[in-house]
Amino acid sequence: MRERIGILTGGGDCPGLNTVIRAVVKCATKHGWETIGFLEGFEGLLEPVRYRRLDYKEMDALLFVGGTILGTSNKGRFAAKTGHGETHRIPRDILRRAKANIQQLGLRALVVVGGDGSLTTAQQLFEQGVPIIGVPKTIDNDLAATALTFGFDSAVACATDALDRLRTTAQSHDRVMVLEVMGRYAGWIAITAGISGGGDVILIPEIPFHLERVCAKIIEREREGKRFTLVVVAEGAREQGADFVTAGGAEASREARLGGIGAVVAAGIQKRTGKETRVCVLGHLQRGGAPTSFDRQLCTRFGTRAVQLIAEEKYGHMVALRPPDTIAVPITEAIGRLRLVPLEGDLVQTARALGISLGD
Ligand code: F6P
Repeated sequence: MRERIGILTGGGDCPGLNTVIRAVVKCATKHGWETIGFLEGFEGLLEPVRYRRLDYKEMDALLFVGGTILGTSNKGRFAAKTGHGETHRIPRDILRRAKANIQQLGLRALVVVGGDGSLTTAQQLFEQGVPIIGVPKTIDNDLAATALTFGFDSAVACATDALDRLRTTAQSHDRVMVLEVMGRYAGWIAITAGISGGGDVILIPEIPFHLERVCAKIIEREREGKRFTLVVVAEGAREQGADFVTAGGAEASREARLGGIGAVVAAGIQKRTGKETRVCVLGHLQRGGAPTSFDRQLCTRFGTRAVQLIAEEKYGHMVALRPPDTIAVPITEAIGRLRLVPLEGDLVQTARALGISLGD
């Protein structure tokens, strides 16, 4: 029998998952290994075990297809993150059963493609003796130990395109347009797209904002004859002294769903300035569709490097980008500490130098 490896995609999906799967399968084939893909994230590891053989010949079509052909899940029995990012241990029995099923299938290694939550679960499986290699995925770009996660560039491209579209309609109607973007507790998407798309105000979780300062910026623009304003709000942004705005009720086996701050900001602006204000929640458009060319090459490099790490038996490691190269880092260096937008970093400084209001 040919040697086998496994792969699964965990957490929220994003553009580029299929591109990673394609690279892993192609490279594994070169090593003479068969690849099987577990379905619905970690859930596929438990009885009834669900997986499919990934045929090398099917892979070419996957290069630019969004989503994941394996399915994924960001809740359930393997959810290591709940509430507002609280970490907890997966029950021992679940880990033990998953390990036994992986051994039963004779897998040489398991590639876990995921963000902070999925890699936290992966680390717990590794500690139980499962040979794991991690690949860093998330549109939020909040994973430590890698310069970038894949999916982020595609999400930024989507948000930038939205700002380009909102600009023309804002200008036509002399309105304030508020764009709410994803990113959980990090403002990477908001500040990167905000700068690329010419936002006038950018509100990120790292900098609690004051509505009066936001309104002051809008009034200042009016005085300069600029009768429209683009405001970008990260879903995790919050007013000084206020709590996160969440969507829907809390569920025990998943992280809190952020959302709704855009509407709060828009209502506050309209009330204080009298300017007609509209809100657009970009939502899952940021997670769908084809990966950008940047993400395609990043995913391909990550997938290729993951297979190389299996050949080197560097288990318990995650592929990371340390420009210009990809490297291996212990998964423990990537999890449990969110990588936030640095307040003294180039993005924040660029925004300030341009006169963009960060609401502080
Ligand atoms: O982590 C990716 C992400 O898209 C976040 O930006 C967002 O808060 C969350 O997932 C949304 O999750 P769901 O798809 O469960 O609504």
